[in-house]
Amino acid sequence: MDKIIVEGGRTLKGEVHISGAKNAALPILISSLLTDGLNTFSNVPQLQDIHSTALLLENLGARVETEDNTVRIDAGGQIQYKAEYDLVRKMRASVLVLGPLVARLGKARVSLPGGCAIGARPINLHLKGLAALGASIELKHGYVEASAGRLKGADIYFDVVTVTGTENLMMAAALAKGTTLLRNAAREPEIVALADTLISMGADIQGAGTSVITINGVSLLKPIEATIIPDRIEAGTFMMAAVLTRGSITVLNAEPDHLGALIDKLRLTGAEIEIDDKTVHVKTKADIKSVDIKTQPYPGFPTDMQAQFMVLMSIANGTSMISETIFENRFIHVSELRRMGADIQVSGDFAIVRGVPNLSAAEVMASDLRASASLILAGLVAEGTTEVNRVYHLDRGYQSLEKKFAALGAAIRRVK
Ligand code: EPU
Repeated sequence: MDKIIVEGGRTLKGEVHISGAKNAALPILISSLLTDGLNTFSNVPQLQDIHSTALLLENLGARVETEDNTVRIDAGGQIQYKAEYDLVRKMRASVLVLGPLVARLGKARVSLPGGCAIGARPINLHLKGLAALGASIELKHGYVEASAGRLKGADIYFDVVTVTGTENLMMAAALAKGTTLLRNAAREPEIVALADTLISMGADIQGAGTSVITINGVSLLKPIEATIIPDRIEAGTFMMAAVLTRGSITVLNAEPDHLGALIDKLRLTGAEIEIDDKTVHVKTKADIKSVDIKTQPYPGFPTDMQAQFMVLMSIANGTSMISETIFENRFIHVSELRRMGADIQVSGDFAIVRGVPNLSAAEVMASDLRASASLILAGLVAEGTTEVNRVYHLDRGYQSLEKKFAALGAAIRRVK
């Protein structure tokens, strides 16, 4: 298994190009199941999760061709309705095929994703919404079995804001008969990106990016060409690396509008941030000030940047409070950061981080995607050589992270 070795203490400087967003690409690639013909998607990041999505779509009968950052998907032929456990367990987002399959075929059999390291992550709201659209749902032998005639528009309220839940139902409702309202919908940029894609396929969707989305179902969607939006979490990870190493990093091909909460918090830590169209320049010379954060659905502070921000706070001047309100178990990185000398106390859904002057390198273990990124960030500033194990988590969601850090001056390498 690969590991990443980082020698701490280098100041990072230079430019880094941000890849396409994993969490936008996954539903968008899957939305090609709603069309009958060849879709071309560009700026698709080269990641394990994208590879898993391609396998899943091929398994369902689509033709998928990948060439660098372009993925072509033709789901025009015979599509089958089963998504097996083996594919879904590798990537929870596989559950996004449920809505499109029921909408297109009138049936789907999709393995229930289990819990994962960061929480139980039920899909009850996806299922409640599909049932409201007229699907009959049964849970059998670890699978969701859904069947329906043509789905019918419905008024659906989400008890909890759910990103993939909103995406699944938006895709299902796009081909339903009549109007669907999604209330308390997620407002993430990835939702807007999926809605834009569906709209160019011919769907009638209004309000994406607000908490009420209206979808007037149509009977047919056509294939398209689309470009994936930049990855705001990857951009945020590099912005934090600039502050953490007291460096100066220019993040290219970002979407600063999607980074509002992080930009605000980083400025409060003392970072200087300049924005010019799609470029964000981050530098800091002063001590890092402690700042509290609370994760929330967009436009709140993203849970996917909580672990990385915690690293920053672990060497800040003072004490900060980090509240995690999205996932019940997203502090698993804490024990590894403590092994690197961080002073962090967790109590329920918040952590108190007392800044220490230095972290000290250690052999550590990644437990999930964003935790892996946080351990690499910690390694960049720790005294000595950090070894991050189980980096397959990292490969699910960051394209060439260690190469991009090396190009900015980090002493980092992957060992096979
Ligand atoms: N929830 C329910 N019932 C549901 C669905 C969700 O109770 O039916 C709860 C979850 O348990 C959680 C909260 O609602 O407590 C929010 O979960 P959400 O459904 O929004 O998460 P997700 O759609 O499974 C996506 C991203 C995650 C990101 C979260 C939150 C994708 C493929 N994944 O997950 O990304 O953390 O939204 O922003 O878009 C990552 O990239 O590392 C990652 C985990």
